[in-house]
Amino acid sequence: MAAPSPIGPKRRPAPASPCALVIFGAAGDLTRRLLIPALYNLAKAKLLPEKFAVIGLDRADKSVAAFREELTLGIKSFVSDTAAEGSSSEPFAAGVWESLANRMTCLSGDVGMPETYRRLAAALDEEEKTAGTGGNVLFYLAVGSTLFAPIVEGLGKAGLLREEEGRWRRVVVEKPFGSDLSSARALNARLLDVMSESQIYRIDHFLGKETVQNIMALRFANGIFEPLWNRHHIDHVQISVAETVGVEHRASFYEATGALRDMVPNHLFQLLSLTAMETPNSFAADAVRTEKRKVLEAVHPLDEGAARRDVVRGQYGAGTVLGKPANAYRREPGVNPLSMTETYIALRLAVDNWRWAGVPFYLRTGKSMARRSTEIAICFKKAPIRLFHGVALGALGPNVLGLQIQPDEGICLEFGAKIPGPEITLGGVRMDFRYKDYFKSAPATGYETLLYDCMIGDQMLFQRADSVEAGWGVVQPILDLWQSDKTVPLEAYDAGSAGPEAAELLLRKQGREWRSLS
Ligand code: BG6
Repeated sequence: MAAPSPIGPKRRPAPASPCALVIFGAAGDLTRRLLIPALYNLAKAKLLPEKFAVIGLDRADKSVAAFREELTLGIKSFVSDTAAEGSSSEPFAAGVWESLANRMTCLSGDVGMPETYRRLAAALDEEEKTAGTGGNVLFYLAVGSTLFAPIVEGLGKAGLLREEEGRWRRVVVEKPFGSDLSSARALNARLLDVMSESQIYRIDHFLGKETVQNIMALRFANGIFEPLWNRHHIDHVQISVAETVGVEHRASFYEATGALRDMVPNHLFQLLSLTAMETPNSFAADAVRTEKRKVLEAVHPLDEGAARRDVVRGQYGAGTVLGKPANAYRREPGVNPLSMTETYIALRLAVDNWRWAGVPFYLRTGKSMARRSTEIAICFKKAPIRLFHGVALGALGPNVLGLQIQPDEGICLEFGAKIPGPEITLGGVRMDFRYKDYFKSAPATGYETLLYDCMIGDQMLFQRADSVEAGWGVVQPILDLWQSDKTVPLEAYDAGSAGPEAAELLLRKQGREWRSLS
């Protein structure tokens, strides 16, 4: 099928305005794997400011030449790894990288020492003079969450967060944003003590994914879906984030975090709120963020009974994932052999508002599962098929609109059709739209859009303090129950399966079933 011509005037986004980007945690994994490749992709797309500088800050003392050399090796391996997200088969753009690398410098320092911030201030003054960054600075906290507040306080004390004479100062905070409701509140309070909400960019990388942003386009740019998008037509909604990877090399983080904290109040709730929100008055950041927060506030609070009944936690045992033998979680390097950390969670939520009353939202996410699949499935009510009474219905299921976020980004519609032949026999068919068939899109890690938005000051794709707290508020009763009652079952599932049997039951007892992962 041919790509459609774009509707409306063609607009090429303009490069961001002059600024410096300061990366705390410059030697870390996130910087190497995602931030630098995203900067490279932005540079290729000519979206970085002409007057731009990067200052990488880390503990280790190294020369600027060594810093650039390390990043060069990293970017070359990213470009040659065609399987890496955001990479492409295009050859390495040496000229683009060289001019970007020439704008990068580094600084060593302990973020607990005031001296570090004084030296950073001096380096920023220097970049303002030489690179012409205009005094605008984006501070990116690619560090462990315990350092978020101390760094922001250090920046505040050094006067580095003051927005004067038209210059801006913004801070990007990575996840995890707190580990429960009270720690998220405390972190918000500490950040808001030294800067305003308009300076804080709480990142959730799911919002950088094209197909996640497309949920709003699908719902609000089309006339046909929104009239059906409610309790009159929708039976239930399933949101799945199934991963084939296990804990990988992140045992120390994951052991203390688990699937619920790692994925639900952030990534899954982003998908939930974009799916369930009311139409915003505009696409202004606060208009959208207010509607998203209202969804989380409308989630029916889980009492203790619901936290037991409507939630299933699981942990993977040994198995076979994509044809390869896979370890049990408890045998992964760095994991406690008696670990009670969940690697899978499924839950049923109700959104108590006029649009969604009576429509269950089933959410699940897990590691070491059968297939990688992130999908939102809108499952419609069955047609009154009595008309076809006595006719073979074949495998006819309910109509489903599937929004596939990854890995095969697209949208599918499943519906019933007559199977050709003299008899009236019905069967399920599927109409598929695949992004890659339609659009020749530029490679992206998902961080390009987010970094660019920080530079142009658009907060729509970032979490506001109230949403973060509303999200933690929804899951807090589950955390409380697991904390107070150690006998809540931790269901076993085989690596490479679709998750524990108890999660199947969660839907089966209501006459429904999960979408197949196979
Ligand atoms: C991260 C989680 O935020 O998201 C990981 O910490 C998870 O555990 C990852 O694997 C999933 O993101 P993506 O983009 O790979 O689907």
